[in-house]
Amino acid sequence: MNLTLKVWRQKNKDIKGKFVTYQANNISKDMSFLEMLDVVNEELVRKNEDPVHFDHDCREGICGMCSLHINGRPHGPNQGTTTCQLHMRSFHDGQTIVIEPWRASAFPVIKDLAVDRSSFERIQQAGGFVNVNTGGVPDANVIPIPKVVADEAFESATCIGCGACVAACKNASAMLFVSAKVSQFALLPQGQTERYSRAQAMVAQMDAEGFGSCTNTGACEAECPVGIKLTNIATLNHEYLNAKILQQEESH
Ligand code: SF4
Ligand code: FES
Repeated sequence: MNLTLKVWRQKNKDIKGKFVTYQANNISKDMSFLEMLDVVNEELVRKNEDPVHFDHDCREGICGMCSLHINGRPHGPNQGTTTCQLHMRSFHDGQTIVIEPWRASAFPVIKDLAVDRSSFERIQQAGGFVNVNTGGVPDANVIPIPKVVADEAFESATCIGCGACVAACKNASAMLFVSAKVSQFALLPQGQTERYSRAQAMVAQMDAEGFGSCTNTGACEAECPVGIKLTNIATLNHEYLNAKILQQEESH
C-alpha cells in the first residue's frame, strides 16, 4: 500500500504545531499502525530528519500508552481497538491518513504525537488505592464476593488509562476514567474503608487538573478501546453524592 500521512508535528507545548505531509510507501496490510510509523521514522532517520514522536509500550493492547487520534477518532476507525492493535488492512491503498495527538489542555503536548498524561497518575494517587492489608492471594480468595459483583468490579478494572475518553469528549472530561477507578474499589469489600473520601479526592484532583465537565454525550463510551460503560459514571455520581451527604451529617 502507498499512503499519504498528514502528521501533527510540534516541538513542545509552547511552540505552535502544524501538519506535515509524509509518504508511506510499500506498506504491508499486515503491519500494525505503529509498525507503519516505524517504517516512516526509519526513512526520516536515514534522511537525517527528526523522527515523529509517539507513545507506545506493550503493543498488545494492555498498557494504555498508545494514543493517536487517527482520521478524527481516538485509536482510529475500529471499535474496541487500541492504536497498537490497529492494522493497516483497515485502510486502503492511496488513502490519506490524518494523525494527531490527544487534544485536551490537561494533556499538554510533550512532542509531536506524545502528550503528558501524568494528570491521570495524580488523580490515581489522590484516591485510587486501598490502605487495608489484603494479605496474600489465599486470604483474598476466602473473602466471599458474589460472582456478579466480582465480574462488575473486574470490568471497571480493565480501564487501561489511555485517555481516549478524554480525547473523544467535546468537554475533555475525564469522568469515564475516574468513574472506572472509583467503581472498581467501591464494589469490593477491600475498597470500603476509603470509599467516600476516595470519590471526593479523585473528583477534586480531576477538577484541579483542568478536565471538563461531563454532559452525558456518551462519546467516551463509544471510543473506549476496552468498553468501559457509562454506568460507571452513574456509580461515581452516586458515590460522590453519598460522600457529600455523609460529610454534612458528620458536621452537624
Ligand atoms: S475509560 Fe476507556 S478510554 Fe478512558 S482511559 Fe480507561 S480505557 Fe482509556
Ligand atoms: S502500546 Fe500498550 S496498549 Fe497500545
